[in-house]
Amino acid sequence: MKNNKIEIIKVENMSKHINGNYIIKNANFSIYKGEMIAIIGKSGSGKSTLISILSGLDKPSEGNVFIENENLYEKNENELSKFRNSKFGIIFQNYNLLNELTCIENIEVPIIFSDKKILDNEEKEKILKLVDLTDKKDFYPKQLSGGEQQRTAIARAIINKPSIIFADEPTGALDINNGERVISILKNLVSEMNTTVIIVTHDLDIANICDRKIVIKDGEIYED
Ligand SMILES: Nc1ncnc2c1ncn2[C@@H]1O[C@H](COP(=O)(O)OP(=O)(O)O)[C@@H](O)[C@H]1O
Ligand SMILES: [Mg+2]
Repeated sequence: MKNNKIEIIKVENMSKHINGNYIIKNANFSIYKGEMIAIIGKSGSGKSTLISILSGLDKPSEGNVFIENENLYEKNENELSKFRNSKFGIIFQNYNLLNELTCIENIEVPIIFSDKKILDNEEKEKILKLVDLTDKKDFYPKQLSGGEQQRTAIARAIINKPSIIFADEPTGALDINNGERVISILKNLVSEMNTTVIIVTHDLDIANICDRKIVIKDGEIYED
């Protein structure tokens, strides 16, 4: 554990229930700046629900989520989408790229919605190099392999220099080699940019390289 820990996420008495069934019961935990956290639990245990709540996509039924001391769910829709675009990068198992945009155009999407608006050529080159897609930049998603699509999605997730990256089973659809590349890019972000990375995974090898594990079982959340 790091010295001078900065609390970047605080979850307070948070529950989520749907039709009377508790998916998450009274969760209380904190995540600190620069940590790489694994969220683990059986299929259907609520991992994706938890990520959605932490990233402002799904409101909790009770309790609060604070990001850098700001109450996420006290924001109006407009404030929340601005906050999410500037602070969060989100990576999904199935990439969620826009099929009608090229690799580099997909990467630029969050910039269009930021105050910055455009990337210059040097910035484009740098991000493409980081995810090793320089020669694929004008390809459309359907012309890219799974690993290349996921690296495009990672580039898109990090282009605004988010303070937190949420990754929901980012290696779930990839072979071992591509999975390792994805994890190594994320790990480098943690060490070089002090980014906080929260990664849902079934893979114990990935969970074991994280700083901490958060486990969901029968709606309860505990640390391992
Ligand atoms: N919109 C919804 N309506 C009803 N049940 C839902 C909804 N979203 C998720 N659930 C249920 O919540 C539980 C947790 O789902 P999820 O967070 O996707 O789990 P995991 O990601 O761990 O596989 C599951 O039992 C799922 O069926
Ligand atoms: Mg899930």
